[in-house]
Amino acid sequence: MSDPPFALVATKRLLVGLLSFLGGQLVNILVFLVDLVLFIVNLAIPDRRIGHVVPHGHPGAGGKWPAFVPPKQGDSRCSCPALNAMANHGILPHSGRNIKFKELSAVVRQTYNFAPTFCFFVPNYAANMLNRSYWTDSFDLADIDAHNCIEHDGSLVRVDAIEDPDQSKIAIPLVERVLRAGSGPNGDLTPADLSRLLGQRRVEAKKANGTFSLAFIHRFFGSSNASTLLTIFGGRLQDLRTFLTEERFPETWEPRIRHQMGLTMMEFNNTVLKVELGIREEVDGTLQAAGQERYGLGSKKAD
Ligand code: HEM
Repeated sequence: MSDPPFALVATKRLLVGLLSFLGGQLVNILVFLVDLVLFIVNLAIPDRRIGHVVPHGHPGAGGKWPAFVPPKQGDSRCSCPALNAMANHGILPHSGRNIKFKELSAVVRQTYNFAPTFCFFVPNYAANMLNRSYWTDSFDLADIDAHNCIEHDGSLVRVDAIEDPDQSKIAIPLVERVLRAGSGPNGDLTPADLSRLLGQRRVEAKKANGTFSLAFIHRFFGSSNASTLLTIFGGRLQDLRTFLTEERFPETWEPRIRHQMGLTMMEFNNTVLKVELGIREEVDGTLQAAGQERYGLGSKKAD
C-alpha cells in the first residue's frame, strides 16, 4: 500500500492539534469558572467545624489516620511529600503503584480539603504531561518525577534531579533549613519566609547545577507547592516537622483550611502570588549572577 500524500497527513495533524488545543483551553476555562463559583459559595456559607474537616467515613475523619507504614523496598514514592504521606498511611496504595488519576483527585480532595477544581486540574495536568488519559489511565508515584513535567530544579525539600535522580529521597538538611526559617508566632512559617527560602534555593541550585532550568510554569509550581505549607498546613512548625521529615500525618492532624468547598485555586493563588512575587533574588540580580558565577568558574566544562 502506498503512503498517503503529505498534504493529507499534514492536514489531519493540524486539525487534530488544533482540536486538542481548543479542547484543553475549554476545559481550563470551565475549571476556572467552576472555581470562581466555589470561591463565592465558600464566602457565603460557614466553614466546617474544627475536628470535622475530613468527611465522615473517610480516612483521617476526626483526626484518626490509618497506621503509618514507611515505604518498603520496591514501593514507588515521589518528590511530593503529600502524595507519599497518603501512600505511607495506605490512603493511596502502599505500593504507590497503579493509581488511577481520577481516584487521586477524589482522595486528595478528602485528605487535604483542596477544592475539586484543584484536585482535577493538577492530576489532569500530570496525566497530559505524561501523555496519558486522566479518565482511563493510571500511574506509579515515581512517574510524576519526570523532570520538568511538574518536578523541577531549585525545590525546597529535594536536591535537584541531576544530583540525585531518586526524587523520593527526603533531603533532610533542606527540610531542617525550612523548619528553622519560620519568623511567625512559635516559629511558624510566613509567606515572606517561603519567598526567602525559595530565593536561596534557586540561587544555590543555579550555582551548583550546570543544567539548571526554571521556566515560568516551574517557578509557579515551586511557589504553589511551597504555599501548601502555609495554607493546608497553616505554616505550623509542629505539624510540618512530622510531615516533611517522615511524610507522615501528625496524630489528630487535619487540614487548616475548613471551607465547605475546600481551598479554591482562586484563594490559593493569592498566597502563591505573595510567595512568588516576594522572591527578591529574581529581581536584584543575585539569580542572574549565580549563573554567571558558575560559568565564570568554568565548572560545567571542568566537571
Ligand atoms: C494533586 C496531585 C498532586 C500532584 C500530582 C503533585 C505533584 C508534585 C510534584 C511532582 C512535586 C515536586 C515538585 C518539585 O520538584 O519541587 C511536588 C512537590 C510538593 N508538593 Fe505536591 N502534588 C500534588 C498534590 C499536593 C498536595 C495536595 C499538597 C499539599 C497538601 C502538595 C504539597 C507539595 C509540597 C510541599 C511539595 C514540595 C515542594 C518543594 O520541595 O519545593 N502536593 N508535588
